[in-house]
Amino acid sequence: MSKKPLRLGTRARLLLRGLRYAPLLPFASIDGWLTVDEAITLYELSRALPHEAPVAVEIGSWQGKSSVCLASGLQGKRQPRLCCIDPFDASGDGESSPTYGERAQRVDGELRRAFEQNLRDAGLHELIDVRQGFSHQQAQHWQGSIDLLFLDGDHSYPSVRQDFEDWAPKVRPGGYLVMHDVVHPVHEGPARVVDELVRRDPTWVEARTVDSMFVARKAMV
Ligand SMILES: C[S@@+](CC[C@H](N)C(=O)[O-])C[C@H]1O[C@@H](n2cnc3c(N)ncnc32)[C@H](O)[C@@H]1O
Repeated sequence: MSKKPLRLGTRARLLLRGLRYAPLLPFASIDGWLTVDEAITLYELSRALPHEAPVAVEIGSWQGKSSVCLASGLQGKRQPRLCCIDPFDASGDGESSPTYGERAQRVDGELRRAFEQNLRDAGLHELIDVRQGFSHQQAQHWQGSIDLLFLDGDHSYPSVRQDFEDWAPKVRPGGYLVMHDVVHPVHEGPARVVDELVRRDPTWVEARTVDSMFVARKAMV
C-alpha cells in the first residue's frame, strides 16, 4: 500500500513555528500571495518598530493578507499606523491583472469591502489608514517619515522603480524596506530594482531574502 506524504495546512505550519505566531492565524484564511515565512517576517519586522507611533506603509494590499501580518506586529504599540495603498479595482501590470480580475470575481462585493472586513475580523481595523488610489499619486500627498515600507503593488519594472524612487526616500534612517516577488518566474521588476538600485546603494544595509521577499535596512546617518 503506497503512503501519501502528509501535507500540513498553512495554520499547522504556522503554529509549528511557535505558538507565539498564533496572532497571525487570520492571514491563513485571506486570499493572497504570501508564504508562512514571509508572513512571519512581516510580523517580526513590524513588531521590532519603535513602540511610540510607528508608521508602516503597504503598497498593494489586495484583500489584506500581508496587511494582517504587519498590523498584528504593530498591535499593542502606542498610536501605531499601517497605511494601506491600493486602488482596490484589481488593476496592475499586464501579467497580473487577468489573475486579479479572475480572483476578484470570486469576491462577494467590492475588493475594498472584502479588505476591510478581513481586517475587522482579525480585530485590526483600528490600526489601518486606507488610501484608495495609485501609489504614485498617493506619494505626492504623503507627509512624515516611514518606519517600514512594503512594496507589493504593480510589479512591472517601471512601476516598481517609480515606487522605490517615490517612497524609499521617506523611510527614516534605521527603518526597513521590504519588497515582495524578488524571486519570481514572471515578474522581473522587483528583482531588477533590487539589483540595480538597492544592492548597489550603501544607504541600504543588512540585505536578506526570505522566500521571495527582500528586506533591507536604511543605514543610520
Ligand atoms: C500582489 S497584490 C498584493 C498582495 C498583498 N500584499 C497580499 O499579500 O495579499 C498587488 C495589489 O497591488 C494593487 N496595485 C496595482 N498597481 C498599484 C499601484 N500603482 N499602487 C497601489 N497598488 C497597486 C493591485 O490592484 C493589487 O491589489
